[in-house]
Amino acid sequence: MKIILIGFMGSGKSTISKLLGKTLNLKVVDMDDMVEELAGMKTPEIFDKFGEAKFREFESKVAKNLSQVDDIVISTGGGVILNKLNIINLRKNNGRVVFLRTTFEEIVKRVSVHDRPRPLFSDIKKAEKLFESRKAIYEFHADIIIDTDGVKVEDIINQLI
Ligand code: S3P
Repeated sequence: MKIILIGFMGSGKSTISKLLGKTLNLKVVDMDDMVEELAGMKTPEIFDKFGEAKFREFESKVAKNLSQVDDIVISTGGGVILNKLNIINLRKNNGRVVFLRTTFEEIVKRVSVHDRPRPLFSDIKKAEKLFESRKAIYEFHADIIIDTDGVKVEDIINQLI
């Protein structure tokens, strides 16, 4: 089984993927961690030194490297859907794409208490625009959509199972 979680920054991909992996006894990987490992530096540093385009290059390499894996839950970065090829690669080997859908209001609540520094969330107005521009793309790529506003993590896992 190969499960790919997509959604905006702060939509709960990391939390859900960890618990889902534990529940289904599947390996869990985080694409942002893999990008950082490949680049040898943290995400904000990649953005600062080389720009977003370079980050996207690393991200696409990681998506390609994950095309043949199985028995895994993949937590993606929020922008993975910007390149169709990423989704094609991630989907290979019978991957199922799950969109963790939220409102922007919920995202704001979650991101403000989150510890991961996010270069594309430094300006809330810009982040909201990004959110609006991506909503339909997440929906387009999803096999399953789960609305997560106000839903307990355990209930999301149960729905997914
Ligand atoms: C990004 C989301 C981040 C990370 C990078 C870009 C985006 O991942 O990949 O900062 O474009 O939405 P999370 O969704 O895990 O925060």
